[in-house]
Amino acid sequence: MRSHPGGEAHTRRLIELAALPQGVSVLDLGAGAGEALALLRGMGYAARGIDLEPRGESVERGDLLCTGFPDASFDAVLSECAFFVSGDQRGALREARRLLKPGGKLLLSDLFFDDPAALLRAAGFTLLCAEDLTDAWREYYLEALWRGDAPCCEIPKGKCSYWLLIGRKDG
Ligand SMILES: C[S@@+](CC[C@H](N)C(=O)[O-])C[C@H]1O[C@@H](n2cnc3c(N)ncnc32)[C@H](O)[C@@H]1O
Repeated sequence: MRSHPGGEAHTRRLIELAALPQGVSVLDLGAGAGEALALLRGMGYAARGIDLEPRGESVERGDLLCTGFPDASFDAVLSECAFFVSGDQRGALREARRLLKPGGKLLLSDLFFDDPAALLRAAGFTLLCAEDLTDAWREYYLEALWRGDAPCCEIPKGKCSYWLLIGRKDG
């Protein structure tokens, strides 16, 4: 099942754009069924993932807003379609930054009702890449409404956009 717009193709795109060195540590926040985890591990990364309601054995139970991992634990943090639905997108960005080593990368695909570049900068990231996936979001959203079984059915209506973003923790 596609649990984020664009499915595996967009996960691959996110990983490709981040150009992570081989074998580095990656934490998936809101990992769902663990599909991105499997992909990352298959590519040789040391990947872990947490979710409030894990849907796969590879995913650990945890809250992405308050993970409990020590500061600077990971070289990269990936999250797809989970920060906004957590109900505190800014808090999720803060926790992601805390978890990253200096120079670590954030690989984010998410829904935005605010300017994504400004949000990332305000959270202390340098924006390295941004791709607008709003068309893919519209398609995903309509499919989910049709099925009536996806978290995005509870998302407020209004003008929004969906972005694939790579940020770097500086300073
Ligand atoms: C749309 S799904 C995306 C799942 C996965 N990232 C993917 O793309 O397949 C959103 C996920 O975020 C998780 N989630 C929402 N709030 C969370 C929180 N505070 N902590 C951890 N996971 C959370 C949900 O349980 C759900 O699995």
